Amino acid sequence: MVNLTTEYLGLTLKSPLIVSSSGLTDNIDKLLIAEESGAGAVVLKSLFEEEINYHAGSLSETGDYPGAEDYILQYTKSHSLDNYLKLIGEAKSKLSIPVIPSINCISSDDWVNFARNIENAGADALEINLFFLPVDKKLSSVNAENLYFNLAEKIKATITIPIALKIGPRFTNLLYMIDQFYARGIDGVVLFNRFYEPDIDINSVRIIPASVFSAPEDKRYVLRWIAMADAAIGNISLAASTGVHDGGDAIKYLLAGADAVQVCSILYKNGVEFIKDMTESIERWMSEKGFDNVSDFRGKLNYHNVSEPGKYERSQFMKYFSSYD
Ligand SMILES: Cc1cc2nc3c(=O)[nH]c(=O)nc-3n(C[C@H](O)[C@H](O)[C@H](O)COP(=O)(O)O)c2cc1C
Repeated sequence: MVNLTTEYLGLTLKSPLIVSSSGLTDNIDKLLIAEESGAGAVVLKSLFEEEINYHAGSLSETGDYPGAEDYILQYTKSHSLDNYLKLIGEAKSKLSIPVIPSINCISSDDWVNFARNIENAGADALEINLFFLPVDKKLSSVNAENLYFNLAEKIKATITIPIALKIGPRFTNLLYMIDQFYARGIDGVVLFNRFYEPDIDINSVRIIPASVFSAPEDKRYVLRWIAMADAAIGNISLAASTGVHDGGDAIKYLLAGADAVQVCSILYKNGVEFIKDMTESIERWMSEKGFDNVSDFRGKLNYHNVSEPGKYERSQFMKYFSSYD
C-alpha cells in the first residue's frame, strides 16, 4: 500500500489532493463529501472583502432610515464574517483534515480584522487570494509589486497560523516575487489563481464572461513555474492550481515539485467524489513505478533535477516549428 502523505504549509496532509477555494467548499455538507472522497485538505470559498463592502454599501443606500447607514454597513460586514466563522467552526469540529479559509484582500484594512477572527476560529492555515489589477498607467511595476509585499508583511504581522498566497502568473519576475514573499515569512504560494476574464459576444455586441472552467492544457504554463520555483526557493510550500483534470495531471505537478495539488473545475463537472478516482490513479501509478511515498518522486523533475533544464527555459517556438508551413 502506497503512502500519499505530504507536507504543506507545515501541515501533514494524508493526500496531496486539495479541494480548491470555490462554491465546492462553501458549506459543511460539501466539505464532508470532500473529506469522505479522500481530499487531503479543503480551502474554503473566499471571503471577498469587495463583495462584503459592495453588499453592505448597496443595502445602506436604500435611504429609508436616515442615519442607519453606518449601522447597516457594520451589521452586514459582521454578519458575513459571522457566517464564515461559523462555517470554520463547524468544519473544524466535523472534519479531521486541515481546514484552510481564504480571504480576498483588496484595499481596506477590514481584512486584518477578518484574518484575526479566522485564526481565532481555529483555522489550520489561511490562504490569501491576492490580486491587484493594475489599471493605472502611471503605476510602475515596482510600486505594483510593493502592494503585494506590503500586504504580505502586514498579514504576517497579524496572524501566527501558516499563510499561503494565491497569486496570478503575470509578474515581470515571478521567482523574485516568490523569493520576496518567502523572505517576509510567507509559508507557501498557490500557483496560480484563475481569474474572471472578459469575452466579447459579436452577435449581441456585448461583453460577456469567458468560461470560468479550466482545460487540461491550461496546466502547461503552470508546470514550468512549479518546476522553477521548487528548484529556486526550495523551502516555501508550493500548491499547484489550474488544469488538474485527472490523477495523471496531479502526478505531473508533484513530479515538477508541488507539495500539494488543488482541484476545482473537474470537480464541478464530475462531482467532488471524483477525488476518489484521482486518488486511485495516483496510487496505481506509484505502485507501478515502485514509489512507496510521495517524497520518493516529488520534485524529481524540477528545474534542478532534470538533466536538460533548458527544456523548462525554452519559450520560443523558432527551432521546433521552423519546419511547419
Ligand atoms: C466557479 C469557480 C469559483 C471560484 N471561486 C474561487 C474563490 O472564491 N476563491 C479563490 O481563491 N479561487 C476561486 N476559484 C479558482 C479556483 O480555486 C482554482 O484556483 C481555479 O479554478 C483553477 O483550478 P482548476 O483548473 O482546477 O479549476 C474559483 C473557480 C471557479 C471555477
